[in-house]
Amino acid sequence: MDKTRIREFADRVYRDNAGAMAVGMADLGTRTGLFRAMQGQGAMTPEALAEATGLQPRYVGEWLRGMAAAEYLTYDAADGSFTLPNEHAYLLASEGTDHFMGGLFRFAPVLLSVAGPVAEAFHKGGGVQFDQFSDDLVEALDMINGGTYETRLAGYWLAQLPDIVVRLEQGGRALDVGCGAGRVSMALARAFPEAAIAGLDPDAGSIARANELAEAAGLARISFVEGTTGAIRDEAFDLVTLCDVMHDLPDPGATLAQIRSLLSEDGVLFVVEPKAADTLEDNINPLGAMYYGFSLFHCMTQSLACGGPGLGTCMGPTQSMDLLARAGFSRVEQLPIRSVTNLFYAARP
Ligand SMILES: C[S@@+](CC[C@H](N)C(=O)[O-])C[C@H]1O[C@@H](n2cnc3c(N)ncnc32)[C@H](O)[C@@H]1O
Repeated sequence: MDKTRIREFADRVYRDNAGAMAVGMADLGTRTGLFRAMQGQGAMTPEALAEATGLQPRYVGEWLRGMAAAEYLTYDAADGSFTLPNEHAYLLASEGTDHFMGGLFRFAPVLLSVAGPVAEAFHKGGGVQFDQFSDDLVEALDMINGGTYETRLAGYWLAQLPDIVVRLEQGGRALDVGCGAGRVSMALARAFPEAAIAGLDPDAGSIARANELAEAAGLARISFVEGTTGAIRDEAFDLVTLCDVMHDLPDPGATLAQIRSLLSEDGVLFVVEPKAADTLEDNINPLGAMYYGFSLFHCMTQSLACGGPGLGTCMGPTQSMDLLARAGFSRVEQLPIRSVTNLFYAARP
């Protein structure tokens, strides 16, 4: 055996474990407000940060040292101070924006906590259902996606569908399927005050959170419904959105066909999916590794748990477009929207 290769791979394993611990420490940084407290403050001593936040000095000191070792913070050995660089604060202390990355820190521990049941599913089949994850799941998904939907959907993404924008401006109807915490519906309601907006999700916890957030935002006119597309009848929607949902569906063919029948003749299904390539060789990169992990610990397993096909997070554009075409959509196109993490499709009945 090549000893250098063994040493190099051992380093890699340490690095990956360091990454896992960095995720946990960074989650503590967002939960406790430590990143926020350091934002724009320049160099801070542990004592000053503990005083500013009212947090326990021993925990704050160890967190600062850990985050410096992970290179999230810089450390000045001359005076023992720590700094959160502005460029890092832009990603770590920017809740509600489209550049906030803190939701990923909340998501990972939720996923890894089901490693036992997922390992069992390797033997027995099935998987872990959506409602068997911890209560943090819905909040984590909202933290990951919410800011992006609120800032990008109506003004930027939907610019690709000018006919639909005109109809919603004049009071059309939109439905967000798999609405989670409801941010897509909220973004649509804000952008199109004349339109009738509904969100649909079979998860009771998601609907409760969506109602709470919408009410707090003065958007109680949005109708959030607990259920699946089969529960909605006789409505002709101008726009149906399916954001980070298609690959999760337990019966994608049936759900897509139902969505097609819910659209008006000239309506559009707008689909947002994770940005994965068609082939594994093109997914061998950090985003691909992250998404395969999301798939095993969440997307694939929760679909298999319901007897679904477990399409997984890395389905890729060819399979996505094929699914839409097989569900009977006559015009399916990939939209030229630039994003690091997502791919976008429009499907017309
Ligand atoms: C990954 S989450 C995405 C939530 C939200 N759209 C977002 O982007 O943050 C997938 C959502 O699809 C919902 N879902 C699962 N099966 C569904 C179905 N058959 N019909 C509608 N929604 C479904 C889940 O309850 C969950 O809220």
